Amino acid sequence: MTGGYIKKNLFEENLDNISDLEIKRIYFLQEEIKKHSHKYYNLANPDISDEQYDELFRELKLLEAKYPDITKDDSPTQKVGAPLTGRLKKIAHNLPMLSLDNVFNEQELIKFISSICTKISIEQVDFICEPKIDGLALSLVYENRKLSYALTRGDGVIGEDITHNALMIKSIPKELPEEPDIPDYLEIRGEAFFYKDDFIKMNTQEGMKFSNARNAAAGTLRILDSNYLSNRPLSFIAYSVYGKNEGYYSTQEATLKNLLKANFVIQDNIKKIKSSDECQNFYEYLLNKRNDLPYEIDGLVIKVNEKKYQTSLGETTHSPRWAVAYKFPANKVNTVLENVSFQIGRTGVLTPVAQLKPVNIDGATVSNASLHNRDEIKRLGLRIGDNVEVCRSGDVIPKVLRVIYDKRPLDTKDIIEPTHCLSCNTKLVISQEQGSNYYCPAGIICPAQKLHSLIHFCSRNAMNIVGLGEQLIIKLYNIGKLNSFVDIFKLEQKDFLELPNIKDKLSNKLVSAIDLSRNVTLDKFIFSLGIIGVGEVASKNLAEYFKSFERIKIATYEELLQVVDIGDITAKSIYSFLNSQDKEHKINLDELVNYLKIENPSSSVDTQNEYVNGKNIVITGTLDRPRDFYSKALIKNGANMTSTISSKVDMLIIGREPGSKLMKAQKLGLQIVSEDILKKWLKID
Ligand code: IVH
Repeated sequence: MTGGYIKKNLFEENLDNISDLEIKRIYFLQEEIKKHSHKYYNLANPDISDEQYDELFRELKLLEAKYPDITKDDSPTQKVGAPLTGRLKKIAHNLPMLSLDNVFNEQELIKFISSICTKISIEQVDFICEPKIDGLALSLVYENRKLSYALTRGDGVIGEDITHNALMIKSIPKELPEEPDIPDYLEIRGEAFFYKDDFIKMNTQEGMKFSNARNAAAGTLRILDSNYLSNRPLSFIAYSVYGKNEGYYSTQEATLKNLLKANFVIQDNIKKIKSSDECQNFYEYLLNKRNDLPYEIDGLVIKVNEKKYQTSLGETTHSPRWAVAYKFPANKVNTVLENVSFQIGRTGVLTPVAQLKPVNIDGATVSNASLHNRDEIKRLGLRIGDNVEVCRSGDVIPKVLRVIYDKRPLDTKDIIEPTHCLSCNTKLVISQEQGSNYYCPAGIICPAQKLHSLIHFCSRNAMNIVGLGEQLIIKLYNIGKLNSFVDIFKLEQKDFLELPNIKDKLSNKLVSAIDLSRNVTLDKFIFSLGIIGVGEVASKNLAEYFKSFERIKIATYEELLQVVDIGDITAKSIYSFLNSQDKEHKINLDELVNYLKIENPSSSVDTQNEYVNGKNIVITGTLDRPRDFYSKALIKNGANMTSTISSKVDMLIIGREPGSKLMKAQKLGLQIVSEDILKKWLKID
């Protein structure tokens, strides 16, 4: 909810006296801000952005200043410090909390195990393997058997004090039993997390909308008021001990045994291994069991058992040398393909999207997945209603891996592709150049393509107009304020203020972000144009080769082909984009450049090479090295590369089977140079 929306409601009440209205708004804002700060600080689950919150706060302060007589005792503006501006206290760790290095396959595992054996000169070393819990590391400090304080990992050196929340976690002992060998100073490390069942139950409660269990645990641990933990059932599993009495944890095995004796929860699936074979078997066993475990795990941790070896192996600033994480591949789950929807993107290509029965993968709910293109549907043999296997790895978009044919229901349906553009209704065509996909040939006059081009233009790797994202662009487009790239630079603060939920502060920020983007490097600018086939690499190559946009604009198809990695299709695509007959497009492109300050690549050209500097050169025939290689080297030495022989050309470099170019060059009396001579000139072996 935002200020704009709230105001509207108030006006609807038809109050005739402006001060009544403002006073009412003060009380309203006080309650509203309290509610949001509670959601932010106590529930770690805000539903408005920081900017929106600040905006409400600023408005309240202004109004309160206008009515000094009004009681403010209970106003959030009067509360300095917690909970509104409250932050967790920072405390340095006694020992840094390190991370783990990763291995991802059996070869890397073998290498790790054998390198440990070599380093400590022992043929067979004992290792303890434990599941790697996907939660957050905590450090618990016990003094004289009492929990003294609890810290998050923080940056590894300094953690955040979350003692108040640790006290609410049932599986964290507040006091240790009276065991004679428990040292009077003890630090326990382990993982805080939600059990899968607990997370699902909690996340279905009103107001909870966490995307996965790990994020929920991170937010919950940092809540300021621990009362809110009563319906956030965090758990803790311990795995390390540090303290005065080293005998207490002389091996990882002893550590785990003593943790259990001290009333900590430890993991069930722990295995002592002596070889990479044994470890690989245990890894595969756990991988199979992974989905049946009550909490999320993302791999295995392999630790040298003996403390004395751990000590001699030591650690880097980042991770111990005596332990490693053997990570699981992306998790796979089964679900149902409920439907396939289609989208028209920036290049006009029709992209199918799988609509899935919502399913949990690694703690995140997945309900759609990209199908890339129509060939992918064919390759998978997909039908609506199919049981499918889906995976997700990290932040990567979920992917449909395969159809589970032996579970195919009888009533599956064909996937029907649209025949006309969903945005402009133009008949779709098949194009080899678009990878045999259907695409909308309407180009930039198709609203979907125009919108996506605008979104691409403003995006981070393109013009990087911070804040001008998809939603805002759509809104501006819908009210007719944004129809071309040029329009972006004509936007004023008042245009943004016409949109709901946008106030002075944000509109100001957007105008300055647009202004800032005017300084752009040539390659980023080329990339922003969204020319089909021209990604970030091609944009860089084009910028390097032509050095200015003016030069690219007049490049011939043949010249474009000279650029590293630009082939026939891309050269044609660039040429037709820059030489479009569409008047509007032309005007826009010319005008656009006037709004920008394009930074051309510095020409690091060496002008000392008297043989080639300033010469117009053509290369022909088969050479020992790729033609691109010589072109680049020649350009670096001040030559201009062209592809057709004319009287303007100074020399022809010839490889084997030079063909008709050689004859033409001879007729014109041009200098003919062999590859060997060129190598000498360029000092290439
Ligand atoms: S031992 C030097 N054992 O993994 C760190 N860590 O990537 C030694 N983790 O920060 C940690 N399960 O949060 C260890 N059984 C386990 C673990 C475990 C999960 C986490 C821990 C650590 C991270 C390292």
